[in-house]
Amino acid sequence: MRIDYWKGKTVIITGASSGIGEAIYHRLDGVVSKIYLVSRKPGKLLSNSSTSTIIPIVCDLSKQDDVEKVISKVSKLEKNSGIDVLFNNAGITAHGRFDSTEMSVFRKTFETNFFGPLRLAQGLMPLILYKKGAVVSTSTVSGLYGVPGRAAYSSSKAALHSAMEAMRIEMMKTGVRSIIVCPPYTRTNLRTSGLDSSGKRLSEEQAEGKIKTADEVALAIINSVENPNSRLVTFDKSGFAMKLLRLFSPRLLESIMYKKLYKDFSN
Ligand SMILES: NC(=O)c1ccc[n+]([C@@H]2O[C@H](COP(=O)([O-])OP(=O)(O)OC[C@H]3O[C@@H](n4cnc5c(N)ncnc54)[C@H](OP(=O)(O)O)[C@@H]3O)[C@@H](O)[C@H]2O)c1
Repeated sequence: MRIDYWKGKTVIITGASSGIGEAIYHRLDGVVSKIYLVSRKPGKLLSNSSTSTIIPIVCDLSKQDDVEKVISKVSKLEKNSGIDVLFNNAGITAHGRFDSTEMSVFRKTFETNFFGPLRLAQGLMPLILYKKGAVVSTSTVSGLYGVPGRAAYSSSKAALHSAMEAMRIEMMKTGVRSIIVCPPYTRTNLRTSGLDSSGKRLSEEQAEGKIKTADEVALAIINSVENPNSRLVTFDKSGFAMKLLRLFSPRLLESIMYKKLYKDFSN
């Protein structure tokens, strides 16, 4: 992380009350000039000792009125200064078989992971343009291919990829950047904050095997902003395999996922 790069910057972090967003916040707190924290409980972590200006805004991203209030508040406060980076990080997972996941779960997942972040980026674009800034979307490897047992989650993130890619191309000559980051399994509260197929809160154990820490992922996200060439950022072999096999051997990729994730969709 290049501290100099971040000095004087104004950023917005959605979902900084937990997990990856919280780790981004801790990395940037005291380094950037101003941080807007946007989530349903944004004040949870605040200390009074920060040298950055911290502005918490309560917002449920799945509610359009809440998102409009954030746009209007930030636009008023930053109209003469702009926004350097919007970390569109907040999100929920949703686990369940394709054929038993209720439509309300698809809708809630899309409202939170797609429509909320999309509208935020759209509404704040004049401020981001002012700074030739960046929108960084925390997606997932599950957004790179439809993952069994996670149809709602995968599709909501894949939709976000498309919208943010379209935006990137449209803004190509303006200096505004769109970075999509696809972390693998990371140790956070995602598996207890998400939804099951009927819309109840999940209560699943962390994934097995080697999983990332929130700080490792946060650092990679921050580094991706510093690199002017960042577009689609993946980690380790999980993202690499998804990207490569999608193109060259989708049949093999599907067989691997079938075996590896069988227990996630077999009941
Ligand atoms: N953990 C993983 O394995 C993993 C892997 C790949 C990608 N990701 C992605 O990483 C991002 C962060 O997730 P995490 O793993 O850090 O999970 P987390 O610990 O559960 O944190 C999720 C954050 O999103 C916020 N949030 C959830 N629903 C919201 C809503 N309706 N409105 C506003 N904010 C909301 C929560 O804040 P409030 O409760 O205060 O609203 C919380 O701060 C997500 O987009 C997720 O898809 C995670």
